[in-house]
Amino acid sequence: MKRKPMIAGNWKMHMTTKEARELVSGLLQEIGDVDTTAVDILVAPPYTALSAVKETLSGSPVLLAGQNMHWEEKGAFTGEISPLMLKEVGCTHVIIGHSERRQLFGETNETVNQKLKSAFSHGLAPILCVGESLEQREAGRTTSVIEEELEKGLNGLTTEQVQSMILAYEPIWAIGTGKTASPEQAEEVHAFIRKWLISKHGEAAAEKIRVLYGGSVKPENIEGLMAKENIDGGLVGGASLKADSFAQIVKRGS
Ligand code: 13P
Repeated sequence: MKRKPMIAGNWKMHMTTKEARELVSGLLQEIGDVDTTAVDILVAPPYTALSAVKETLSGSPVLLAGQNMHWEEKGAFTGEISPLMLKEVGCTHVIIGHSERRQLFGETNETVNQKLKSAFSHGLAPILCVGESLEQREAGRTTSVIEEELEKGLNGLTTEQVQSMILAYEPIWAIGTGKTASPEQAEEVHAFIRKWLISKHGEAAAEKIRVLYGGSVKPENIEGLMAKENIDGGLVGGASLKADSFAQIVKRGS
């Protein structure tokens, strides 16, 4: 049996507080008839909009996530945000290791690992992103890159922790490019991730872990992706910025 799907919207650096309220109000209207026992819906707004989004979501089952966090609770870390701060505004989840953090802001597998450990110790469920660049894919290194990200990122985590987290496969070449991985290309990597999880944490744990696909997910391609055995949902960037397209992805993906 497949896992409960999750459709997650990563807003990246988009949406003022006012725009965020409008987007979420629109989304709640559009998904009014969705059976949320059958799909988890999550949004990850920028930090400044988290409180406003939480307020607008009041009473709805839509989950809230931060897009990143520091591993420390507080300190002299200008520009960073802590797990306590995310928890306080109502986040239950946090995205860790997005490729934009890795490529543009120097995130490494080691800092990813520290952040994952901190998320667990603060009761935040992490969504760990992994994925290869076009250059790495063309050099035949896709699975070795993913394996290294998993080995180092999840280093020292218990099976209990790993089975409560969410993974997202986001091929860098498919992010924001309009060029989605085909369902077959995505499934190949998702199956590899599942096999790796089985080998490290056993079949029972591995079968519980949701692995989302991210990279130019749209209403038109979500069904084909979700039809694959090891694809358990979508992590959506651009198409999560409009209530109707995100709602369509939720409906078609569940
Ligand atoms: P796009 O859906 O805009 O390609 O972004 C994907 C992504 O990076 C989600 O985290």
